[in-house]
Amino acid sequence: MKYQILDIIKNAGEYVSGEELSRILGITRSAIWKNIGLLRDEGYVIDSVTNKGYRLQSTADALNESEIEKVLNTHTIGQKIIYFSSIDSTNAEVKRIAVKGAEHGTVVIAGEQTLGKGRFGREWSSPKGTGIWLSVLLRTDMSPANISGITLAAGLGICKAIRSLTGCNAQIKWPNDIIIGNKKICGILTEMTAEADRINYAVLGVGINVNTAEFPVEIEHKATSLMLATGRKVPRLNLLSEILQQLEIELDEYLLNPQNDLISQYRRLCATIGREVAVSRNNTNLQGKAVNIDNNGELVVKLADGKQISVSSGEVTVQGIY
Ligand code: BTN
Repeated sequence: MKYQILDIIKNAGEYVSGEELSRILGITRSAIWKNIGLLRDEGYVIDSVTNKGYRLQSTADALNESEIEKVLNTHTIGQKIIYFSSIDSTNAEVKRIAVKGAEHGTVVIAGEQTLGKGRFGREWSSPKGTGIWLSVLLRTDMSPANISGITLAAGLGICKAIRSLTGCNAQIKWPNDIIIGNKKICGILTEMTAEADRINYAVLGVGINVNTAEFPVEIEHKATSLMLATGRKVPRLNLLSEILQQLEIELDEYLLNPQNDLISQYRRLCATIGREVAVSRNNTNLQGKAVNIDNNGELVVKLADGKQISVSSGEVTVQGIY
């Protein structure tokens, strides 16, 4: 019903009264009002004026299947889109549909997540209508050792998409947070099921704070949104389309040829290189300077005695970035 209302106000291009909508569709005016609320929850901007009715102002923030299909420019990622206005976690949903045979590139996207998951078992705040919360199903028979490369490739693609769409100086905090200034705007959670020598499927979960106006106190010192960083609302639909396109470019390339120039491009956008870091290893804390990302995607840290070590993500805290 909500999409029938949408069609009518879209085609009219001007105000359509609640009375007329209710006559055309044979439902009450309060049912019309309720469906207008559902459309607004999806991101449609609809004016309502007493004695005039409803007018569609913008579709640029709506993230449902039909709006996404209109702007999508990809061949594999997002050929199948499944939109939920609310869901526990898009990563959890992709895992549920993967076992039922969903195709490579399927994207699950949600208006809000009630149980959004971050890395290290943390919660990921995913309120309604403010962000992009999505997961992509990747089917590949690469070795499980390549999973971190998938995440680096995704981080690179998302960082490029944000830079090109908003003009922001987005950078990557190794391994896979996207930051602006010293605050995080995007996190990536990659999960997989694998056998000893091959990935069965991977789930690439991406959370981007797009038009968030304020954050819960526990994270406000370290989180920001594209709206807060640019001073203007960012149309989620255009950003999503750019993100899926850049993800496809980087992932297609990496899945075909893991030895490509991903790491050299990644280094150029990586904010961690050159910073002081603390490494916690075997119950000892070491201080050093991040000097490079090696070809395996690990962070190379130069310690005070000049020795260089390669470290994995769980071991490092970067100074100066949240
Ligand atoms: C992080 O801790 O930085 C990773 C955050 C990942 C959040 C995204 S939002 C969409 C997808 N579904 C989830 O439950 N988590 C990821």
